[in-house]
Amino acid sequence: MEIASIKGFRDILPEETRVWQWIEAEARRVFEDFGFQEIKTPILEKTELFSRSIGQETDIVSKEMYTFDDIKGRSLTLRPEATASVVRAYIQNRPYQTYPVQKLYSIGPMFRHERPQKGRFRQFHQINAELFGDPGPRSDADMISMAVLLFRSIGLDDVTLNLNSLGCFDCRPRFREELRDYLADKKIRLCEDCQRRADANPLRVFDCKVDACKEVVSEAPSIDAFLCEACREHFRSLEECLSDLEIPFVLNPRLVRGLDYYNRTTFEIQTEHLGAQNAVAGGGRYDGLVRLLGGPDHPAIGFALGMERVAALIGNDHPLQDKRPDLFIAALGEAAARAAFKWAVGLRRNGLWAELDYGSAGLKSQMKKADRLGARQVLIVGDDELKTGRGALRNMLTKEQADVELKDAVNVLKEILKNERERDGRD
Ligand code: HAM
Repeated sequence: MEIASIKGFRDILPEETRVWQWIEAEARRVFEDFGFQEIKTPILEKTELFSRSIGQETDIVSKEMYTFDDIKGRSLTLRPEATASVVRAYIQNRPYQTYPVQKLYSIGPMFRHERPQKGRFRQFHQINAELFGDPGPRSDADMISMAVLLFRSIGLDDVTLNLNSLGCFDCRPRFREELRDYLADKKIRLCEDCQRRADANPLRVFDCKVDACKEVVSEAPSIDAFLCEACREHFRSLEECLSDLEIPFVLNPRLVRGLDYYNRTTFEIQTEHLGAQNAVAGGGRYDGLVRLLGGPDHPAIGFALGMERVAALIGNDHPLQDKRPDLFIAALGEAAARAAFKWAVGLRRNGLWAELDYGSAGLKSQMKKADRLGARQVLIVGDDELKTGRGALRNMLTKEQADVELKDAVNVLKEILKNERERDGRD
């Protein structure tokens, strides 16, 4: 019986991986211009890392984590996001002892047991960036401008930057109390989860997808009225920096984001083209997290973008040229096949894409294959050509045929194919 993949987990097939590679390459280029370096952290971590950082009352921790006990009975979790792991790595490896401001990016799969739908998967991929050691607001603006530049560089201008401040450890408690009071006499209208959250962590009611809860929070007090002077000033400076950089944004006091670790600046890049899953990137400041996880009191800010959603927005609208073999060698007869194999490998060692048939198909079938692959040139060589030392090189575009020397075939073909590349403006 055929074994299919798990629901919410999918294969990313070559047509799509090409777009992904391009997005990743653009991200690496843009991020490295901002001084970011790549970090790779494990996919599996101790469950406590996520429950402590993301928060017990969040949807992610309370219902969406892939958690299991390993053979020794330790609770482990497939990472639902990258920030907690990067913070753990930061604390564990102490890179700040060498450079106090650390800028780290990572790319990889995340796992959340959500209900799969358009743009929402159980295994999905993020490009994630974190900056440690600066309290902002200029570093906030730097992160946001980096995210915006990445979107621009992959041709996605039609997105909206939403911006908010969640206040700090001084002023947020006042807002939380106010929200708790507001929700207290409306509990009956809330879903079961939100009835509990209304007391335990009222901000999380904002994340609920149940219509009745959405309706209740639509009239709830919003955080902007509760910010302390320091948070207001921070936010004002950030707005000023973004204006200097000519980065448009929309103020969204309802943007609380679904993770507990944020304080002050939060932001989300949204699109109108993906239905309900409108967030293509999101992030914010998390000044208390490094300390909460046992590290020094270092501020931090970061964001992540969702690859599946970004790739869906790009679709086929990307500048990648279709890759085509420089040469297909159609060989007829055993001696020719043997020589062809050697030449193909020789050309690849010189950075050229040479293809051939592994078997002993006839000329017609080999030409068909060359055509299907879109080979630019085909060298036709049989045992007779080997004897005379000359083969026929056919340009598949112009249909012109040239006679080529086979004695030093790799070097002769290399010259011709490299010249072709140059003429076409390929690498
Ligand atoms: P997040 O908002 O949970 O933030 O996820 C960031 C992005 O990942 C979302 O905007 C979305 O594009 C994508 N994403 C999330 N869940 C799914 C899913 N189930 N299927 C497909 N795409 C998804 C974080 O994860 C934070 N760690 C971001 C951050 C970094 N904050 C500070 N540093």
